Amino acid sequence: MSRTVICPGSFDPVTLGHVDIIKRASKMFDKVIVAVLVNMDKTPSFTIDERISFLEEALKEAKVSNIEIVGFDGLLADYAKKRGATAVVKGLRAVSDFEYEFQMALTNRKLNPEFDTVFLTADAQNMYLSSSIVRQVASLGGDISNFVPACLYDKIYERLKK
Ligand code: PNS
Repeated sequence: MSRTVICPGSFDPVTLGHVDIIKRASKMFDKVIVAVLVNMDKTPSFTIDERISFLEEALKEAKVSNIEIVGFDGLLADYAKKRGATAVVKGLRAVSDFEYEFQMALTNRKLNPEFDTVFLTADAQNMYLSSSIVRQVASLGGDISNFVPACLYDKIYERLKK
């Protein structure tokens, strides 16, 4: 049986931590749908088209093949059902991620009992990394080369730098 999973997120912007989790998920499952949240609570720094095209470039650079990158809106549990995905794959960084992720995982399973969540531990060097850290460091003129894919450095830095 072919197993499709979803890696959802805002990806505002994609980081090396995201790429690592998606790459590892792609090795474990037959297909990974990278689902980019279209309508975020707060205005994103990058448009949905930019966030998707950044992911395309980053995952091409990382040689990840069995993936589909899409925008999604509404409930993740509904989207997963529509796409026939059996699970969501998420990276867990510090303990501080746990409570929020646990809440989302339980809610998703209540909404769709067939839908499970698989957590992968973040790589040690990405434990502290997040899109908001990238936005903050770049906006203050800091070096983000350890945080974002090399092919995206200029695009992300030029936009965020004040
Ligand atoms: O990268 P993020 O911001 O941590 O991703 C959060 C995301 C997109 C996974 C989450 O906000 C989400 O699933 N949104 C869709 C709405 C939904 O299904 N909410 C109920 C689950 S708590």
